[in-house]
Amino acid sequence: MNATQQNEAERRYPLRIPDFALRPFRSGDEEDVLRHADNPNVAGTLLDRFPSPYTIEDARAWIDFASSRPDVYFAITRLDRVVGAISGEPGEDVFRESAEIGYWIGEEWRGRGVVPAAVERIVGILFRRGFRKCWADVFGGNAASARVLEKCGFQREGVRRAHVVKNGAVLDLVLYGLLREEWEDSGNE
Ligand SMILES: CC(C)(COP(=O)(O)OP(=O)(O)OC[C@H]1O[C@@H](n2cnc3c(N)ncnc32)[C@H](O)[C@@H]1OP(=O)(O)O)[C@@H](O)C(=O)NCCC(=O)NCCS
Repeated sequence: MNATQQNEAERRYPLRIPDFALRPFRSGDEEDVLRHADNPNVAGTLLDRFPSPYTIEDARAWIDFASSRPDVYFAITRLDRVVGAISGEPGEDVFRESAEIGYWIGEEWRGRGVVPAAVERIVGILFRRGFRKCWADVFGGNAASARVLEKCGFQREGVRRAHVVKNGAVLDLVLYGLLREEWEDSGNE
């Protein structure tokens, strides 16, 4: 692990919603991940690499992978138990100053503003690390995710038409982005 990863490995970031926080994934989270991730209503608006059905082996493989990059992949927790996940993946090459945000939360915890609180948190982490932009792509029709990003100050930047095939449906891909100066202008630093 590099220095940033070592710093993140033990950190916990409380969210503005009581009992909820971000922390790295760790061994022991497998059953909680499985319980929330094995749901077609979660997988249905994510990339196909998110397994569906989701098995305990998938949970083990995810935790192995995610816990080795604690600066990128965070568990969303309630009372320290995993209820979802959020990531801030640095781009490469000419995209290296931008980070892609991705997230999901267990169906039973939706509609409480937890993911917006997690997005606000991770955006703060990434901008303080020096990223210039955070971005996310949303499948056409995923109004809940679009709303999350709009509530967090992201701008809708455009649409890639008929760019996605998910579960047999051809969908648009809607592009959202937030610049560091926009985040600073809304009272953050
Ligand atoms: C998208 C997701 C992360 C939202 O998380 P959440 O913590 O429930 O977010 P919120 O509590 O802010 O609720 C969603 C918002 O969308 C709105 N919303 C939900 N379904 C909606 C719909 N069909 N049409 C319009 N708005 C909708 C809610 O009313 C709420 O907005 P409000 O606070 O203004 O009322 C969650 O539904 C999820 O994990 N979905 C599956 C995975 C996924 O799609 N990830 C994102 C991929 S880009």
